[in-house]
Amino acid sequence: MKQKILFNEVVTRDGFQMEPEFVPTANKVALINALSQCGYAKIEVTSFTSAKAIPMLRDAEEVMGRIERVPGVEYTVLVPNLRGAERAMASRPDEFNLVMSTSETHNLANLRMPREHSYAALREVIERYGAQVPINVSLSACFGCPMEGDVPQAEVMQWAQRFADLGVRGLTICDTTGMAHPEQVAQMCDLLHSRFPNLQLTLHFHNTRGMGLANVLAAAQSGIDRFDGSLGGLGGCPYAPGASGNISSEDAIHMLDAMGYDTGMDLGRLLPIARDLPDIVGHAVPGQVAKSGRITDLHPAPPSVAELRKLFS
Ligand code: COA
Ligand code: ZN
Repeated sequence: MKQKILFNEVVTRDGFQMEPEFVPTANKVALINALSQCGYAKIEVTSFTSAKAIPMLRDAEEVMGRIERVPGVEYTVLVPNLRGAERAMASRPDEFNLVMSTSETHNLANLRMPREHSYAALREVIERYGAQVPINVSLSACFGCPMEGDVPQAEVMQWAQRFADLGVRGLTICDTTGMAHPEQVAQMCDLLHSRFPNLQLTLHFHNTRGMGLANVLAAAQSGIDRFDGSLGGLGGCPYAPGASGNISSEDAIHMLDAMGYDTGMDLGRLLPIARDLPDIVGHAVPGQVAKSGRITDLHPAPPSVAELRKLFS
């Protein structure tokens, strides 16, 4: 058995935030409750952003209040600013996931302020709440920005270091618009390990250009043991041109399981939930394994095969 890999399911946050049709609160709660039984280390339940910016997640308080929390699963929430932190704290999350972009243009598009303003605001959140709740910081556009292009690794490391200096528990390095390739990922992971050996490091990939699972593998082979994934491969940032789905959790888990990694996930439970997802969002979803079945799900041979066996025996 290879290393243990831990999954953070982000479908009800990253996955839903760009969906045009509001998913009723009861459906979100039922989905999270079902996912809680599948072996996830974390579930990113929702986001305490402005309801005008992300109408889909306007029911954050209600969702957090209604889910059944399973011991051993951490329920994390995205927090964009101090106002979001105040709202989030009241619903007793296991973690705050703060977010800012390493690209100035993407930060202005997504969070409507320069990076230095975001950093100052997030520092305030950490100073005020860091003693009460573990803090993770998700850095967006770490492998490239759809508006600026290349984002140098030194730039990513600089922002990572500034948050590490504030005492955060973890960092999520996000490929927000699927620009990363496996070679770049391996380099980034080596650098992250050497610079931040004591931080919880998570990689967050999108499959925008079909490189998602290759990037997961490159990161796992570089020793990364935490990944964000979105059921069905839903997702994307509404403020990043051309954004599309995250890596599909079930496809990544299926691949890593097949290769002998210990994901601790129950795919037998997860796949039926993934198969129900198109009904929840009202359209087909990109994930593959829910459609095709696992490599261990065998099909009966056609009757002609038995006849041919006889003929050739
Ligand atoms: N929760 C609820 N409402 C919030 C809020 C929060 N965390 N932060 C701001 N608001 C409200 C304000 O009350 C204000 O409402 P009003 O117009 O009715 O007075 C409005 O949003 C604008 O507030 P302002 O302080 O000017 O913030 P902003 O316009 O600069 O927006 C963000 C800042 C970050 C809250 C907003 O841009 C946002 O939520 N963006 C989406 C980020 C995101 O989740 N992206 C996808 C994930 S990567
Ligand atoms: Zn994402």
